[in-house]
Amino acid sequence: PHRRSATGRTAFFNELAQCLFDFVIQLLPTAEEMAVKEDVRKLLEKLIRTIEPESRLLSFGSTANGFSLRNSDMDLCCLIDSKGPPLQASDLVTMLGDLLERETKFHVKTLPFARIPIVKLSLDPSPGLPFGISCDIGFENRLALENTRLLLSYASVDPTRVRTIVLFLKVWTKRRKINSPYRGTLSSYGYVLLVIYFLVHVKNPPVLPNLQQMPPLRPISHEDTHIGEHNIWFFDDTELLRRKWQSANTETVAELLIDFFKYYSRDFSYNTGVASIRSGLLKKESKGWATENDGGRYSDSSRDRNRLCIEDPFETNYNVSRTVTKDGLYTIRGEFMRASRILAARPERAIIALAQLCE
Ligand code: CTP
Ligand code: MG
Repeated sequence: PHRRSATGRTAFFNELAQCLFDFVIQLLPTAEEMAVKEDVRKLLEKLIRTIEPESRLLSFGSTANGFSLRNSDMDLCCLIDSKGPPLQASDLVTMLGDLLERETKFHVKTLPFARIPIVKLSLDPSPGLPFGISCDIGFENRLALENTRLLLSYASVDPTRVRTIVLFLKVWTKRRKINSPYRGTLSSYGYVLLVIYFLVHVKNPPVLPNLQQMPPLRPISHEDTHIGEHNIWFFDDTELLRRKWQSANTETVAELLIDFFKYYSRDFSYNTGVASIRSGLLKKESKGWATENDGGRYSDSSRDRNRLCIEDPFETNYNVSRTVTKDGLYTIRGEFMRASRILAARPERAIIALAQLCE
């Protein structure tokens, strides 16, 4: 039975919003899990310092950006502050791998010659850690640390709405199997950027301010705002923002989520558009990411890399969704449409819609 009256609509939105909170809350990591992860980070940092005394091991990705679910992986980045001749990342990876193999109970796998060399670690489940732990350690990935901080800042501007939508989408994309960059779909990072893009640039009035375009409170040197040629500045005084930023948009998470699915099912211009959280909607053409083959200028592989275009907030020449293939995009859009359809039907109980979504 469809509920057609305006009060029925509002009742459905409120009930769905409540269901979304309840659903997400039970999936948050426990304080215990967070503490264990922090202990692991400290232990690994101590070990790495036996190779490079001037190094620090920092968390990035979901353990640090406010969008973490229970049992999510740990992303760690090793920064080396020493002035001496730098060790090659590939050598560090090999040395660290050997050390961890000798000194710890972790299963260790090293990828010294990958595009971004990493050490992969995992721990088997135990009573204190029923799901074990898996963890990747990379080196000198300062941009990833900064984009983690940017996501965290966005999460803290409007914690309830932003976190609820992102966390629900993470679960949903995993259950629907559209969260595997290795299999032609999109990373969690990519989905988070789609949400922020939607809340900053699509919703009117916007739910979030554009942190990268807000004027700094005081002048800052070029050196402090750049890593290489990349401008990494954004407004990060979240305390101040929380007090000053009051969005004129009062929609519930339910309305925003429904609208999110609708927008990415049919309104976003996949063929020509680039979603940029820094600059709004851009054209593929103006970024040299056009997909049409004009006179053979674009190879097939370049075309397949730019089916879906999401500009990285700092590395603006990097398409975060270059892993998404033609089939992958077809599947993702199909899922957005399916979600839209399920929610538009407004079943009698909102919980049923959620269950059906995540089937
Ligand atoms: N990252 C990146 N560029 C990508 C993918 C990831 O810079 N194309 C960096 C980002 O800093 C991101 C982190 O790697 O925050 C982790 O990415 P990902 O695993 O996709 O996101 P998580 O938030 O860690 O999600 P999950 O819990 O699913 O691991
Ligand atoms: Mg991760």
